[in-house]
Amino acid sequence: MDVLETLDIASWRGPFGAAVRQDAIAALERGRVLFFPHLPFVLRDAERSLLTPELSSGRAKNISLDPSGRLKHDAAAKDQQILLQAMMQRFAADAVALVGGLFPAYAAKLERARTSYRPVEIAGRKYSATKDDTRLHVDAFPTRPMRGRRILRLFSNIHPGALPRVWNVGEPFADMAAKILPRVKPPMPLAAWLRAATWQTRGLRSRYDDLMLGLHDTAKLDMDYQRATPKNEIAFAPGTTWLCYTDQVMHAALSGQFVLEQTFHLDIDAMAEPARAPIGVLEKMTGRALA
Ligand code: SIN
Ligand code: FE
Repeated sequence: MDVLETLDIASWRGPFGAAVRQDAIAALERGRVLFFPHLPFVLRDAERSLLTPELSSGRAKNISLDPSGRLKHDAAAKDQQILLQAMMQRFAADAVALVGGLFPAYAAKLERARTSYRPVEIAGRKYSATKDDTRLHVDAFPTRPMRGRRILRLFSNIHPGALPRVWNVGEPFADMAAKILPRVKPPMPLAAWLRAATWQTRGLRSRYDDLMLGLHDTAKLDMDYQRATPKNEIAFAPGTTWLCYTDQVMHAALSGQFVLEQTFHLDIDAMAEPARAPIGVLEKMTGRALA
């Protein structure tokens, strides 16, 4: 299967034709990466001063902007901060327009989550195995229970030179889960309740969240799996944009610098084919309700 679905769209704002929208949603929900080779996010002249890794506080991988406009993990001076905030807001607005225009059926259930700016070169950064995004994984987070909701992410490479964002894309979700799920250990009894009660998580984790985090960690820790699993290396050039369900697409970011990313959360009942969601696949495999 070709992992990329290329779309020739050259504007963040529609209207987009019915045929384009139909192809886009089918490919997206089947676990392909939508690739927009002619859709750059263009920085304004003054914003080019933001192209430096010095803006990152170093405490987290990325600088983030929450939907209320609050900036986190940056080390920018006040005037740079205002520039950074405005640039990220503009990117978020473009991302919202594109996703809303391409998937009108999602609109009512689509939640704009965090926007991130990733100004640090990925290659050579040192992280613990489970935080190492150069290893293939599906996204799952210990502190953010999803209870089956989807994680949709849009990326744009804004590198000023020629440096691509290089990803590996792995096997389909169901193939990965068939191999990894039997080795995911059940969580400690009461662990979910305890974490919520002590404010470590926002809301109660479901069995789905435990299994997804288990798949994420077990796949990253298994170097034999990492070596042997089929993978496609993709180089996303500067000036290009891509979009996928990162809770479904096995992905790894190998190298690159200066990427913007917008996260969306979506209820599965807004999907054209909800059975293709990870929770649908996992419920079928385990024979039980997971959220
Ligand atoms: C990831 O989601 O694993 C990282 C993607 C990227 O920063 O390119
Ligand atoms: Fe990821």
